[in-house]
Amino acid sequence: MKILLTGGAGYIGSHTAVALLDAGHAVAVLDNYSNSSPEAIRRVEQITGKSVNLYEADAADKSVVMDILKKEMPDCIIHFAGLKAVGESVEKPVEYYRNNIDTTLTLLECMKELGLKNFVFSSSATVYGDDHKPPFTEEMTKGACTNPYGWTKWMQEQMLTDAALASEKGSDWKEPLSVVLLRYFNPVGSHESGLIGEDPQGIPNNLMPFISQVAVGRRDHLTVFGDDYDTPDGTCRRDYIHVMDLAEGHVKAAEYAAEHTGTEVFNLGTGNPYSVLDMVKAFGAACGHDVAYEIGPRRAGDIQDSWANADKALKVLGWETKRGIDEICRDAWNWQSHNPNGYK
Ligand code: NAD
Ligand code: UD1
Repeated sequence: MKILLTGGAGYIGSHTAVALLDAGHAVAVLDNYSNSSPEAIRRVEQITGKSVNLYEADAADKSVVMDILKKEMPDCIIHFAGLKAVGESVEKPVEYYRNNIDTTLTLLECMKELGLKNFVFSSSATVYGDDHKPPFTEEMTKGACTNPYGWTKWMQEQMLTDAALASEKGSDWKEPLSVVLLRYFNPVGSHESGLIGEDPQGIPNNLMPFISQVAVGRRDHLTVFGDDYDTPDGTCRRDYIHVMDLAEGHVKAAEYAAEHTGTEVFNLGTGNPYSVLDMVKAFGAACGHDVAYEIGPRRAGDIQDSWANADKALKVLGWETKRGIDEICRDAWNWQSHNPNGYK
């Protein structure tokens, strides 16, 4: 298939491009580089020995997106483009709603006009809110989000579900849509080559890039956000999924979308929770020295526990994770130690 990735130069998009090319699909990427660099795609081409059609464009700009889609006529769109920093979304809600919602609406309008059918969306476990106890299953009701970023995911899921429903009833859609909503848990790690990886701008918000930067000497120590939770070591537990496992989940999702119509939701996680201190310890083993940390106060908005029930993805997509925290830490360290300043 020919697959267009919006936001394909970003962290998850670039790894998915590798997985799709390795699986024999053709890949086009549309990105405005607001949080990435075209260098990531050059390295995707280096890893795979295959070329990518690359467009610098804003996924919310309808006339430009129409031109690209008319040229490519992809069998499937995977929509990664979006702003994703939780804290920043609280400070800049208008920018977050504008960018994340507009890009999805633009893509839907273009797909409707061109009769394109298949759409895979980057959603997040954040839509479960904190109303449920893990493991989270897809049929649980979506919860209240604690920040504008989370609400954009919640709303985009709803918009896509409504559009798929309308398209199935005929209305003025040329084709019934096929929408796959992928709820990621905590994507971490890098491609095993160490050529591509996570390259956050400024001070990392997320745990793994922060640990990596401490390990490589860019930062002094990690602050662990609270050790007084009701967990075995007092720190929060998450479902850390290797980004290449996640990427392979997208290959399965795109292939599934091509065979179906309507909306389907899948958790992409391992089902195994690890605490913050588990990750610190595992990273220390991978990099060969202890990662300095101190215990700080809880972070506002954090939930104690989050992990997936990933049975549905196994049953329906035939997908399951193959890599554990040792591979995650090994590959994250390989990327960080060979690229201490990211793509710069
Ligand atoms: P990322 O920032 O590395 O990638 C997003 C890409 O989208 C970047 O390359 C950015 O330049 C591009 N982009 C943003 N707005 C754009 C626009 N208007 N037009 C064109 N390109 C645009 O982030 P990521 O970690 O790769 O995340 C990809 C997707 O997965 C995002 O939608 C994110 O919300 C979602 N997600 C990420 C995580 C995570 O932990 N990384 C978890 C759950 C969901
Ligand atoms: C966060 C977002 C979530 C988003 C995801 C991916 C919040 C509340 N949630 O998830 O919506 O989908 O990122 O972008 O922000 N930690 C530390 N010290 C640090 C950083 C993190 O102790 O410096 C801890 C956190 O308290 C948490 C765990 O590490 O317990 C993982 O944090 P993080 O990587 O930010 O992911 P989430 O909070 O799970």
